[in-house]
Amino acid sequence: MTYKQIQEIDFNKNLILPCKKDDLKSIQQFLPIENPDFDGSFLTHHLIYGKEGNRIYLVGLGEEKNKSQLESTFQKFAFETCKYWKDEIQVFTDHLNNDDILKIVIGLEMSQYFIGQFKTTKEDKKEIILSFSSKNTIEKILEEGKFTGETINKIKGLVDAPPNIKTPEYLGDWAKKSSKEASYSCTVLKHKKLEKQGFDAVLAVGKGSVHPPVVIINEYKANDSDTIDIALVGKGITFDSGGLSIKPSTNLHYMKSDMGGAAVVLGVVELVAKLKLNINIVGIVASAENAVDANSYRPGDVINSYSGKTIEIIDTDAEGRLVLADGISYAIKTYNPEYVIDIATLTGSVVRTFGYAAAGMFTQNQEMANTMSDLGFKVHERVWQLPMFEDYEKDLESDVADIKNFNGKPIEGAINAAKFLEFFTEKHPKWMHLDIAGVSFGSSQYAQMKSATGFGIQLITNFIKEKVRK
Ligand code: BES
Ligand code: ZN
Ligand code: ZN
Repeated sequence: MTYKQIQEIDFNKNLILPCKKDDLKSIQQFLPIENPDFDGSFLTHHLIYGKEGNRIYLVGLGEEKNKSQLESTFQKFAFETCKYWKDEIQVFTDHLNNDDILKIVIGLEMSQYFIGQFKTTKEDKKEIILSFSSKNTIEKILEEGKFTGETINKIKGLVDAPPNIKTPEYLGDWAKKSSKEASYSCTVLKHKKLEKQGFDAVLAVGKGSVHPPVVIINEYKANDSDTIDIALVGKGITFDSGGLSIKPSTNLHYMKSDMGGAAVVLGVVELVAKLKLNINIVGIVASAENAVDANSYRPGDVINSYSGKTIEIIDTDAEGRLVLADGISYAIKTYNPEYVIDIATLTGSVVRTFGYAAAGMFTQNQEMANTMSDLGFKVHERVWQLPMFEDYEKDLESDVADIKNFNGKPIEGAINAAKFLEFFTEKHPKWMHLDIAGVSFGSSQYAQMKSATGFGIQLITNFIKEKVRK
């Protein structure tokens, strides 16, 4: 879809009229009839025809509380109606602010997500121009909305992709291609380099797979200085069978989404580069397949890690924290970034705690926690903080190694994983861990089964925007 700005709406042509709940009077002057059967409720829309037979779509913005997820109402509306659209359609936005317009464009673009990439028959896509009316200059907002929506669709495509195709190497190729398109630098470390540089935890997790692990390093620098403002680290397990501590088969196919954190990192770097934000960031993805094989790492093994610290493996299904440990150590040692944020579909425990409503947030930095929490509410990608008390540390003490990868108890699962990661942060003062296991995959109107949500792209990009150099 193409988004452009127009000064005046032609009310004799097709148009979209966004309408607040119980506020039809403010757009009544543009309607050919009085009192259409519509009250502006969130996630609803209604079609009436104008005098020229033109379509007038009333789209419900809902109430003030729905503002943070305005994209959903436009995603749903466009998904249901765009097959009837032709060439150009106007959007009346004179009464809306830039935040609202941004969300509307994101939603319209998100409606174009196509989950059936691997179907042999596909629908033809029409090129539609959406013309937004505004007295202010909104071209930049329209561009940002399009880039954001496109990025969300791309990372959803990655998360929904099948694990036989989406190997660690495939993620590396994806990043290389993206780096050329969006002008940032990308290095993909493959097996030999990983061995040479000592990514032993990543290598241990990937040992049982025929698809060797990779570590992806994306650098976007708006500024010539070597200082890195923010490092993002993503868990990129392309399929999590649990390894020798094998998972039950029910819903095992969903474990193709265990690279949801990596997808956010890849997407955010691409988006920040496209938006040309004045900031220096790196995105690190530690990617492996956790497979079952004679070569797989075992419960009881003691492995090394990038940090030099040894780890006793209690459960091979607690693999995400191992690849992240190497990613976090590498980020801190190589770049000494001001902020470090890792993002991962890390534990079933966080899903049992928050369901699909919020990600788990872990940090010792309260200012960072408050910022992230506020942004989460603003963009409706909510995070909720869990404690990082010292009390939990005892549970990770190993008899034989520096640390063990799991406390072996059916309690404090998400916190236990976060405390494990903290061990590899060298007490970094601005580190945060986000456990997105519950929110990165969920139900949608276009899929029978659970599918990617795109959670994290708006949240992390907004966090980065807050830290942009003035
Ligand atoms: N990938 C899973 C976590 C997960 C669960 C993601 C559900 C998405 C939905 C992770 O690697 C895992 O298996 N975690 C275990 C750890 C346990 C064995 C210590 C868990 O949380 O059960
Ligand atoms: Zn696992
Ligand atoms: Zn996992």
